[in-house]
Amino acid sequence: MADDPYRIADRVDDGMLEMMVSRLEERGRDARFLGMIDDYLDAVGLPEANEVLDLGCGTGVVARRIAGRSGFAGRVLGIDLAPQLVTRARALAASEGLSQATVFEVGDIRSLALEDGRFDVTVMHTLVSHLEDPGAALKEAARVTRAGGAIALFDGDYASSTLETADPDRAGEIDAAMIEATVTQPRVLRRLPRMAAAAGLLVERFFPYVIAEAGRPEFFAGLVDTIGPMLVASGVAQEDEAATIASDLGDAAESGTFFGACNYYGYVLRKP
Ligand SMILES: C[S@@+](CC[C@H](N)C(=O)[O-])C[C@H]1O[C@@H](n2cnc3c(N)ncnc32)[C@H](O)[C@@H]1O
Repeated sequence: MADDPYRIADRVDDGMLEMMVSRLEERGRDARFLGMIDDYLDAVGLPEANEVLDLGCGTGVVARRIAGRSGFAGRVLGIDLAPQLVTRARALAASEGLSQATVFEVGDIRSLALEDGRFDVTVMHTLVSHLEDPGAALKEAARVTRAGGAIALFDGDYASSTLETADPDRAGEIDAAMIEATVTQPRVLRRLPRMAAAAGLLVERFFPYVIAEAGRPEFFAGLVDTIGPMLVASGVAQEDEAATIASDLGDAAESGTFFGACNYYGYVLRKP
């Protein structure tokens, strides 16, 4: 298994961590990405929610989005494996005046020290694609959510992800390498209805999206900038091959000949 940096975020070096922070924050400023977050937040019944859990919160993009929503009077607990990301999330929340409504703590979804049924809503935003055992994580999320509460789960269907590179004969192979370097579970969202049933959850809403960019990338620009180091750090490619792929994508982005696409899916799961 390749070293997906987001699965081992507590062990990556400072350079990789900074790249992850800038990718998460850049994505968190993209209007399409925020719109997809708002779609599931609108559907879960947030105004009535008191206690919200954001699992794998990273820099707190979703926790801050919830805390800043008009009418939200509860509290969001963000949990992440990486202490540096938790520190960053606290600082960003403070700078946005959201410290009262947010708490960020280090924790691991594989062993959560949280009591059963504590949360009205639990969010897993681009987390399960980075886990070795997403089924167990979903059961853990179900455990800490109250009966009648909701789990909002959003992620990329990364098996659909493609960034077209210069050599058409190797395009499929290079796509596969880029997927392996950045996620652990590229097909997990296709298995989610089965995983939800195994965790005793009902699929209440499903939101399908595609982000596709041709010409100059915006949403994928950060990925273009970070894919070279990620290919190397994950062990998927040697430095020279990673540099070739990265510079080719960089040239395409700059010259307006870029093409990239990925499906994203949001699920609202209800705990009966
Ligand atoms: C792709 S990032 C998503 C961050 C944030 N939810 C967002 O969308 O901006 C995945 C996050 O999951 C965290 N993570 C990975 N494995 C974890 C685990 N076992 N327990 C808790 N967090 C974990 C990583 O540290 C990383 O911050």
